[in-house]
Amino acid sequence: MIEVQDLTKRYAGVTAVDGVSFTVNRGEICGFLGPNGAGKSTTMKILSGFMPATSGEAKVAGHDVFTESEEVRKRIGYMPENNPLYPDMRVTEYLGYRAALKGVPRTKRKARIDEVLQLCGLGDVSRRIIGQLSKGYKQRVGLADSLVHDPDLLILDEPTIGLDPNQIRQVRHLIKDLGKRHTILISTHILPEVEMTCNRVIIINKGKIVASDTPENLTKMLEGGGTVRAEIRGDRPSVERALRGLPGVKDVAIEPANDDFLRATIYAPPRSDVRVRVFEAAAANRWTLRELSRVRQTLEDVFAFITMKEAPVKEEEGK
Ligand SMILES: Nc1ncnc2c1ncn2[C@@H]1O[C@H](COP(=O)(O)OP(=O)(O)OP(=O)(O)O)[C@@H](O)[C@H]1O
Ligand SMILES: [Mg+2]
Repeated sequence: MIEVQDLTKRYAGVTAVDGVSFTVNRGEICGFLGPNGAGKSTTMKILSGFMPATSGEAKVAGHDVFTESEEVRKRIGYMPENNPLYPDMRVTEYLGYRAALKGVPRTKRKARIDEVLQLCGLGDVSRRIIGQLSKGYKQRVGLADSLVHDPDLLILDEPTIGLDPNQIRQVRHLIKDLGKRHTILISTHILPEVEMTCNRVIIINKGKIVASDTPENLTKMLEGGGTVRAEIRGDRPSVERALRGLPGVKDVAIEPANDDFLRATIYAPPRSDVRVRVFEAAAANRWTLRELSRVRQTLEDVFAFITMKEAPVKEEEGK
């Protein structure tokens, strides 16, 4: 659905996108991640035909975004960041105007507008003036706008920015639902959301693609995949010594829990499982063991790892 080959965009003095290549297949919900200034919005603007690239090739549904921009725009619903709307218009009026602009036939416009109002939860505010809506509702109008001509592909640049947690949940469900019928490329900084909604993640850093895989594979790839958390009651130096001595254990960090227990983080290589050894050590040493679990790596860890080249700091635990 999207094919990008060696795409480069230079602004005066800044290379915002630097030889980027990737594809997004039909039916995928693809998360586009990267720190501020990585080149996400620039790439999305080029794909939507809003801006030419400096060099390279980009195609949507087989059509070149530069030379066949008409064809491409018909197939794309693009929601830019800082989504510009007409603040003086009423919601339905605006969507009607946008639908006309995007070539939705006059006879189909009303039905189409009703459908997107419903889809985006805008039914109650359809007669309101856009400028008077809350930020979240303005975002929804932007989303409705991107959907009004029923495009195959949605390109959404941070659609959940500025929304409250409830609205984020609603928009997340909406996007997941839209993903059943549309291909989606979505940029966001909310990583748990990507883990929940996207089948694939592309990470861009300083204008270059640094990773592209399923969220599961990305989280698996991190060193520390075998890390285990245990809560143990026992003498701290001997606990530490014994855990460090276990086969397969690379490192151990111990801190006191809130009570008389110790919290041990036991580092072991990916795809290994040292839990049985820890249990046996506890039994042999007569420690009390009240928790033994694998530490799940999150996409946030991966993101930090790839974009900052720093070992991720683990605070949460999973399962
Ligand atoms: N019109 C412009 N003129 C000059 N430089 C620009 C322009 N637009 C963007 N840039 C630069 O290009 C780089 C990439 O910007 P871009 O907006 O694509 O990043 P982004 O990944 O969308 O970041 P964010 O997460 O902050 O939205 C940045 O260094 C930015 O300063
Ligand atoms: Mg951006």
